[in-house]
Amino acid sequence: MEMDRLVALCKRRGFLFQSSEIYGGLQGFWDYGPLGVELKRNVREAWWRDMVTAQDELTVPPGAPSAYAMTGLDCTIIMHPQVWKCSGHYDLFHDYMVDCRESNRRYRYDQLQGRWVRKELDYEPPPPDQAFLETDPTNHAFFVATEAIGQQGLADVEQRALKFFNLRSKHKERLSWVRSNLESLTSVNDFSRVLGPDAKELGTLTEPREFNLMLETHTGAIRDEKSKTFLRPETAQGIFVNFKNVLDSTRVKIPFGIAQIGKSFRNEITPRNFTFRSREFEQMEIEFFCHPDTSADWYKYWRDRRYQWYLDLGLAGDRLRLRDHDPDELSHYSCGTADIEYAFPFLAEGEFGELEGVAHRGDFDLRSHMEGKLVRRGDELVVETDAHGQPKYRGSGKDLSYFDDQTKERFIPHAIEPSAGADRATLAFLCEAYCEDEVPDDKGKSTPRVYMKFHPRIAPIKAAVFPLVKKDGMPEVAKEIYKQLKRELNVFYDEKGAVGRRYRRQDEAGTPFCITVDGQTMADGTVTIRDRDTLEQWRVKKEDCLAELRQRLTG
Ligand code: GAP
Repeated sequence: MEMDRLVALCKRRGFLFQSSEIYGGLQGFWDYGPLGVELKRNVREAWWRDMVTAQDELTVPPGAPSAYAMTGLDCTIIMHPQVWKCSGHYDLFHDYMVDCRESNRRYRYDQLQGRWVRKELDYEPPPPDQAFLETDPTNHAFFVATEAIGQQGLADVEQRALKFFNLRSKHKERLSWVRSNLESLTSVNDFSRVLGPDAKELGTLTEPREFNLMLETHTGAIRDEKSKTFLRPETAQGIFVNFKNVLDSTRVKIPFGIAQIGKSFRNEITPRNFTFRSREFEQMEIEFFCHPDTSADWYKYWRDRRYQWYLDLGLAGDRLRLRDHDPDELSHYSCGTADIEYAFPFLAEGEFGELEGVAHRGDFDLRSHMEGKLVRRGDELVVETDAHGQPKYRGSGKDLSYFDDQTKERFIPHAIEPSAGADRATLAFLCEAYCEDEVPDDKGKSTPRVYMKFHPRIAPIKAAVFPLVKKDGMPEVAKEIYKQLKRELNVFYDEKGAVGRRYRRQDEAGTPFCITVDGQTMADGTVTIRDRDTLEQWRVKKEDCLAELRQRLTG
């Protein structure tokens, strides 16, 4: 599927619009249109229902070490600045950026790192690159991008290199050169040897500089350092700082989870790929609190459970994968992390993008909010101190431990964190749903069709109701059916234009079923129901429409 076609459909049919579009748009911000808002709401509701309200705390779920309870929270976007100091975001939540003096653009360092370039005449690279340059088929700048190294390994870089240099089997010697020089090709950090992606000259890139991703604002009348606050870059910290409140106000016992859905903000240096990397986005996060002795088992449970959730909602097996992080990729707090990844169509062949991270965070966060910001020293986490030996950032001093009144044990729970992006999930469902085929039109001629094959649970509209023609009492019957269904389901009524065109519009909206009132309805009280994917049509009594849809939408 070509991404351009999906982007065009999203705008044409009202799934997604660029924010502030009439003023030229604002990079990294997106609005959901009438269909998009329903789709994303359904994604959020499916998540909340499956993870929180439908969680049966009396039964042990398959693969879980025990039964458990789930509860929810809705915290503020702006929190006490100390939250971000103790969580590590204030000091550590940054990307390195590089500016280009020629194009005046800004790039993420990791996306430029290793871009290796030669501009004919301008630059003569030292050996061993020389041998490779001799075989360069062009007289132009060339490079190998290495951002994939961490994710896909050298094999992927090799593939990109081959593609870039247009190597065919007859260029066997180049192939072996690429292989044997991958290391040096991908580790060039000398920026005078790197051509900015939008530059014509070498040497226009600045040295990398740190750039904190948290968006700042001020609270109160005076704008100074003291009134500086941040828009949360993740929802998770609201859960940790409310851990004690939840324990004290409910009767939950460990193990249990707290879920939250809400907006997060990151001043991404290079927002891109539609909604994939936005500056304002929504997260669906769980902190699952358990005893340290069982945390490894819970980590495994959540990893598998969350992967299965995407499969159940229709993401295909070969485009979805579960990838364990290498130890050197782990965040400052994590003892184990896996990403659930999807092969988004805007990525190069064989590349995957993160949909969700499932992290074993140990007791890092609760302890940080008790004691002050922690740093790892050897195998231990200790409070970071300043030049005077005082805590660099003081914690709340509150006791965030848990007392098990059965075992009489007091401990700081470990947290397992499945952290999903509602917008990324929605984008993956949009990409997966996009289908093209050929179907006969009203006159039986085969014509191309676009349809969105959403899982019925997330489809924005569940059914459309049409009178075949706008006369003979058909609209009145169709409106009756529409009203009956509307009480329970998001249904759509349409009587304009040829019925074939109405079907096509619903196919593009991803509506699983269309109900048509026709001449036979007036005679025997039955209507046709058409299936979006198979195009199969069958008749049911008009008063049975709701039961039929209920069964098909959930079955
Ligand atoms: N609390 C952990 C945490 O926030 P993360 O991997 O930085 O971890 C979790 O983010 C999820 O949030 C990602 O897997 C992704 O789905 C979503 N996300 C993160 N940054 C995003 C962005 N700039 N645009 C859209 N979604 C984003």
